[in-house]
Amino acid sequence: MKILLLGSGGREHAIAFKLQQSTLCKALYIAPGNAGTKECGTNVDLNLKDFDAIKEFCLTQNINMIVVGPEEPLVLGIFNYFAYDEATKHIIVIGPSKEGAQLEGSKAYSKHFMQRHKIPTANYAEFTAENFADGIAYLQNHALPIVLKADGLAAGKGVVICKSINEAVEEFTQMIQSQKFGSASAKVVVEQFLDGIEMSVFVLTDGKNYVLLPNAKDYKRIGEGDTGLNTGGMGAISPVPFADEGFMQKVIARIIEPTIHGLHTENIVYKGFVFIGLIKVNNEPYVIEYNCRMGDPETEVVMPRLDNDLVELFLHTHKNTLHLVNIQHSLKHACTTVCVSGGYPGAYENGFSISNIDKIKDSKVYHAGTKESSNQIVTNGGRVLAITTLAETLQDAVATSKKNASVIEYQGKYFRNDIGFEFQ
Ligand code: AMP
Ligand code: GLY
Repeated sequence: MKILLLGSGGREHAIAFKLQQSTLCKALYIAPGNAGTKECGTNVDLNLKDFDAIKEFCLTQNINMIVVGPEEPLVLGIFNYFAYDEATKHIIVIGPSKEGAQLEGSKAYSKHFMQRHKIPTANYAEFTAENFADGIAYLQNHALPIVLKADGLAAGKGVVICKSINEAVEEFTQMIQSQKFGSASAKVVVEQFLDGIEMSVFVLTDGKNYVLLPNAKDYKRIGEGDTGLNTGGMGAISPVPFADEGFMQKVIARIIEPTIHGLHTENIVYKGFVFIGLIKVNNEPYVIEYNCRMGDPETEVVMPRLDNDLVELFLHTHKNTLHLVNIQHSLKHACTTVCVSGGYPGAYENGFSISNIDKIKDSKVYHAGTKESSNQIVTNGGRVLAITTLAETLQDAVATSKKNASVIEYQGKYFRNDIGFEFQ
């Protein structure tokens, strides 16, 4: 198999590292990749929204399979683009169809889907400029806090939790009338606030059958003790200590099975990952959101615990034979600590030289925002490196991961010292 992996973050480095371990992988290209993915294959400078350029590359290089890391190309319809073109329909694309990707691309779409399939989630209403006044009236009578969600993709920033009615009215007005998140907030979902503990569940589906991958918990806030601004993710652990057998049985019966069955009965083509963001309230699971891809940094703790051959899993996904697969995973605990640029998630500078990666022996260093420049590895993004450790206990995984995060050096480096803190 000649495989093209799309993306450039820590998630893609972790997927690339796993793909290149497969004997079925004869060549691996990563577009655009980073300084870490270069060790797993060949980086290619392609724009992920330029499907014509991706097609041309695939046809010239005889690519057999495209694995899509981030959501944007999926929401823009890369699956359909390849599947419905005579010249490219032989190329396997791992990811949902354009319609399936709407589970992430539109919060309103995903809420309707959950309603149709009786999947537990927060109560909600949706508004646009057309029923703006109804929206304001709805907010005036809403219990606090109020969750406002831009309907479309907003680079992880489209959810605002408001503590007062005034704040909610102000935010709602900015979203709809001042296009705070561009066209993504032309429609706003107003949601009941759920108070509980969150986790991420990952499913790989062929549209009818599915396998459950190791679960994880990510840490989104910049500050220790889960304080401060939201980020792309400051760390993750796997498995999740509170996700015991009984709880996971509820997740399977009430959420995963109805989701996959719903996709199947609605004829929504879906050959890829479903990432379900869950919240546990009084020991009951509710869906916070669907994503149509793997999580980042969760992938950096899920992939190291997965023992199956990833290319084989993708071939089963393509052939609708995932029911024949047994997922094998390590019983070890994984922790990843993300080193970020100073100033992140606000403004930050790129181009600082990174040292000591080679000194780290007992963790895997996944690159996120890095690139090679004049034979040096330099920072090139908010999230720079994800340092993953596998160990017999969560405590050991956490301790080694943060010890190694402190060994890395570059100007402005910051990381959270308390990943997994609730479970220590
Ligand atoms: P999302 O962008 O949908 O992942 O939402 C970002 C974060 O907002 C989630 O990880 C939750 O922490 C929080 N959130 C979203 N919806 C709710 C809700 N209904 N109740 C409480 N917190 C929520
Ligand atoms: N870690 C959350 C996400 O990938 O959306």
